[in-house]
Amino acid sequence: MIRFFGYILTSLGSKVLVALSGLGLTAFVVFHTLGNLQVFQGPEALNAYAAFLREMPMALWTARLGLLGIVAVHVGLGYRLAVQNRRARPVGYAVHEYRRASWASRTMALTGSLLVLFIVFHLLHLTAGWVDPSFSDRLDPRGNRDVFAKVVHAFQNPLFVMIYLVGQVVLGLHLSHALSSSLQTLGMEHPMLDRLFRGVGPLVALLVVVGNVAVVLAVAFGVVHA
Ligand code: HEM
Repeated sequence: MIRFFGYILTSLGSKVLVALSGLGLTAFVVFHTLGNLQVFQGPEALNAYAAFLREMPMALWTARLGLLGIVAVHVGLGYRLAVQNRRARPVGYAVHEYRRASWASRTMALTGSLLVLFIVFHLLHLTAGWVDPSFSDRLDPRGNRDVFAKVVHAFQNPLFVMIYLVGQVVLGLHLSHALSSSLQTLGMEHPMLDRLFRGVGPLVALLVVVGNVAVVLAVAFGVVHA
């Protein structure tokens, strides 16, 4: 056990845990995007999906706490690594020469922090209903929580549309670099597969962002309506 914690405290141990927790969070985001896309199938599908999750409170709360734990590990160790990297190079480069590092890779700490802010806002908005309580307690004709009406109401407001679109840009930037670099940290590097692994992050990020942006814009432009 002591050895395990000793390993975590090494830079490599932290990197491996940040990579593993990042892959877990990516799986959640992909699953969540597929759930969001049910908006295109109408209120019954989206509300039944939300009700299905809530019908299993034990599983839901285990998943929520698990997710929270993974976020805590990812953010805590990710922040520590960023600080260590900065300390290892106390004097900034005189000339910033970033030949291989992409813009997304250089801004991981910034996009990660903005993403945390977005997720906190999102939970207070759509899950807790603190930001805008309207439609939070409404039930559909089947007695399920009317998540569909809540989502439609949200994206009829240009301010929420802007916030969610900016959130998706930040998510896309973070995810596009994170996924490829996690696979590399976990040793999945192979000269022949190198291009594939480099491409996986941007591709998954693009699909997630396009899926979520489609939901927001479909409501904003009245393609999906109550
Ligand atoms: C346009 C994009 C998004 C839409 C339309 C959306 C929609 C929703 C909705 C409607 C809920 C509430 C479900 C319910 O109350 O039953 C929810 C919950 C949640 N969302 Fe999102 N979401 C989006 C993006 C994201 C992103 C990018 C993340 C994380 C990176 C995220 C993380 C969460 C989490 C953690 C929950 C709470 C799940 C729970 O415990 O019930 N969402 N989302």
